[in-house]
Amino acid sequence: MKCLIYFMVLFLVSEVGSFDLVIDGIPDEVENMIDVEIDGFPSSSRTRNGRYQRSTSDWGYVGDLVEDDDKIGLYSYKVQSTITSRLANTMIQAKMVNNAKRPQHIVFDVQVPKGAFIDNFTMDVNGITFTSSIREKSEARRMYSQAKAKGKAAGIVRSNALDMENFKTEVNVPPGTRIQFELHYQEMIRRKLSSYEHIISLKPGRLAKHMEVDVRIIEPQGIRYVHVPNSLGDHFNGITTISKGEKKAHISFKPTMAQQRKCPTCSSTAVDGNFVVQYDVNRESTGGELEIFNGYFIHFFAPENLDPLPKNILFVIDVSGSMWGLKMKQTIEAMKAILSELRAADQFSLIDFNHNVRCWRDNLVSATPAQVEDAKKYIQTIHPNGGTNINEALLRATFILNEAQNLGMLDPNSVSMIVLVSDGDPTVGELKLTTIQKNVKQSIKDEFSLFCLGIGFDVDYDFLQRIATDNRGMAQRIFGNQETSAQMKRFYNQVSTPLLKKIQFNYPQESVSDVTQSSFHNYFGGSEIVVAGKVDTANLQHLESVVTATAANAELVMETLRDVEELDGFMKKDKYADPEFTRKLWAYLTVNQMLAERNTAPTAALKRNITKSILQMSLDHHIVTPFTSMLIENSENDEIMLADQPKDPRRGCCSGVVVNGQLIGAKKEENKKLNTYFGKFGFYFKNKGLKVEIDTETITLKDGPYGITLTWSDTGHIIRKQLLISVKKESNVTIRVGEEMSFMVLLHRVWKNHPVNVDFLGIYIPPENQFSPEARGLIGQFTSEPEVYIHNLRPGQTPEKPQATMEVKGNKLTVTRGLQKDYRTNRVFGTDVQCWFVHNSGKGFIEGHYKDYLVPHLYSFLKKP
Ligand SMILES: *[C@@H]1O[C@H](CO)[C@@H](O)[C@H](O)[C@H]1NC(C)=O
Ligand SMILES: *[C@@H]1O[C@H](CO)[C@@H](O)[C@H](O)[C@H]1NC(C)=O
Ligand SMILES: *[C@@H]1O[C@H](CO)[C@@H](O)[C@H](O)[C@H]1NC(C)=O
Repeated sequence: MKCLIYFMVLFLVSEVGSFDLVIDGIPDEVENMIDVEIDGFPSSSRTRNGRYQRSTSDWGYVGDLVEDDDKIGLYSYKVQSTITSRLANTMIQAKMVNNAKRPQHIVFDVQVPKGAFIDNFTMDVNGITFTSSIREKSEARRMYSQAKAKGKAAGIVRSNALDMENFKTEVNVPPGTRIQFELHYQEMIRRKLSSYEHIISLKPGRLAKHMEVDVRIIEPQGIRYVHVPNSLGDHFNGITTISKGEKKAHISFKPTMAQQRKCPTCSSTAVDGNFVVQYDVNRESTGGELEIFNGYFIHFFAPENLDPLPKNILFVIDVSGSMWGLKMKQTIEAMKAILSELRAADQFSLIDFNHNVRCWRDNLVSATPAQVEDAKKYIQTIHPNGGTNINEALLRATFILNEAQNLGMLDPNSVSMIVLVSDGDPTVGELKLTTIQKNVKQSIKDEFSLFCLGIGFDVDYDFLQRIATDNRGMAQRIFGNQETSAQMKRFYNQVSTPLLKKIQFNYPQESVSDVTQSSFHNYFGGSEIVVAGKVDTANLQHLESVVTATAANAELVMETLRDVEELDGFMKKDKYADPEFTRKLWAYLTVNQMLAERNTAPTAALKRNITKSILQMSLDHHIVTPFTSMLIENSENDEIMLADQPKDPRRGCCSGVVVNGQLIGAKKEENKKLNTYFGKFGFYFKNKGLKVEIDTETITLKDGPYGITLTWSDTGHIIRKQLLISVKKESNVTIRVGEEMSFMVLLHRVWKNHPVNVDFLGIYIPPENQFSPEARGLIGQFTSEPEVYIHNLRPGQTPEKPQATMEVKGNKLTVTRGLQKDYRTNRVFGTDVQCWFVHNSGKGFIEGHYKDYLVPHLYSFLKKP
């Protein structure tokens, strides 16, 4: 019997207000392979047959949970990253030992940059090696579940974060066991704002006896500079060493155990953040650099010293109520800086929208100092309120650009763009995201670029990304904090200087094949265009490329010629250089291009074709993509694990369900204490755009402007968009979403005119619900339940309330045995259930403080991740 829900509710007894209860996640078929019983009796923990038998045990964690004890020894933590001509191969290796007398749960949890391809994972447990293979997703799942059915244990969960993805392995091992984990991934480092930035997430979670980070850069073009910002904090000043040659560089970071400590007497590590390396390469020819090796060519194109093209830019700014406060302040600050940077030849206007759409000027105006000043004044006076009509705002922006185009007011060499800043989903006007996407695409007609900035977590970022890539632009998520303004400016700077338009790359057709995207609408200063392909070098001495483009005052034709063997000598001499770098870069570009094409494919048949090609590429190149999973097996084939990715994140991921509750107080205090109860629940099914509101009088379903209300004296169903609401008169409501999710709300009526008590509601969430590991909130965070160890059972203040020590998440808590009522079987009197009660409002048991879970509205998302 699960008790979590009850004490969740109970420790909130002194607060009246709305707070987030549950879930922000998606149904996910990735099974959480670790079963944990949470009822608090050590003896009831399930065990499985298998070598690493699960029993009640402690947490050992390599990851962002910090523990103060040394039951798990981390004796080595190594990161090696080698960048060969923008292709970064990174290895993260951890060696750990279980020093405790009990079996331990050892976790290897690392972050991999989004977009990187995991290509290998190995694990060594007391000399038994586990190796990995890449399989088609459903095949991997089938093999895994077959093996699992035979009782072989262990598990891996992969999950989606913001710009990083988690790769997590959990193994339960007996005392004395030594484990080595090793993960490999590859990615192409993109040039942004005139530098390449390589980011390594460094979160060992505990002190490491030996820690080393080595980054090697090998750039045949020559390295212009290497910079390692102090991103891990002042604590590590002077520990990083950089040695730089003409074409090679080596960055080394080896803090001793003493240097890792947060303070001289601390047992926790200060190594917790990103290790960042920035560099740029030399460029000699405007036509770019051709690198040919091993049957592939890569063309790096990043001309400088060109005059910027004039731009026509429309800023479309969300000023709905949710932007109120810090977000708006930061947006105003950023916009003032951005407006100041407009060039005299640029034309611009400003649109601000909530449920209405307003324009600062109905047409584009030149960026003269007077106009810029006026625009700044305008933006300063905005007071956010009201809803969000994204559709109308974007259509107005394209109307202004189209009209200027039709009236011949745009310089033929200029670049036109819309920059949308928004923090939420549409709530007014057209709400259907696919319709908005279609409308915008139709009115932009591939004439302009649309860039989207999504602020905070309320925003459907996948949608913004979709409409941006659909319209020659890109999207960026901005974290809604003090840094918002700086992040907005940084993003704007990436697109503020268009240097070329209509760029076309040409290669001799008879010598090359499988060339990646070779024509581009714009080239922005500080970035880089990369084209790759296969090249038949057998009968070829030189490869030639011709790039044509429109610059500010001329049509450019740029030729580059390269000897196909030019790199051979250089590559042979360097033992760190990856001889496969050209193949991997080509595969990286090709797969990413296909993923983008698939995203905007107009027909299901084409989509299937692209999926097939991506799958084949993933298998051929041994990389984990959204269509493959990694199986991890030992050499005896008797244990197996599955490394899976969430489903294609563009299809509805991470915009799931919000459940909030509102508390009401009793009619008066009893023993100086005001009891509180649930008076109202709000369910928000974001994908479906449906809201369900239940209080002690009515049950209401809302779909945008439409709504339907039943009362508790009805018995009936409401079905809309595959959501089923069943109301049982004066008793209970069940909300069902397919097979994946259901919620039940029970009504508790007190007798009329009760002097103290009020009618209230109870919520029940069956454990079969399939939420993703991202589920958050007071209850949501326990969908993947923490390991709990209860010991030292002792008498409490009264005989029927014994106490014990609960170890959870590295904390030792005193808990008290008590009774709680489950009303599901007996709605009037309830059934008593034994529970451990956590004191201090759940401190140490829940993430953060309970006040973190208070939210302003019934449908608010929880802000803290
Ligand atoms: C994965 O890594 C292991 C250990 O480094 C190595 O033996 C194996 O060949 C690698 N597999 C692949 C496919 O690269
Ligand atoms: C899918 O691929 C097959 C085989 O390559 C081809 O015959 C078919 O026309 C493709 N379908 C679409 C819709 O592109
Ligand atoms: C819901 O209400 C119906 C009708 O009163 C009842 O039969 C059913 O047992 C109730 N379910 C629960 C879990 O209370």
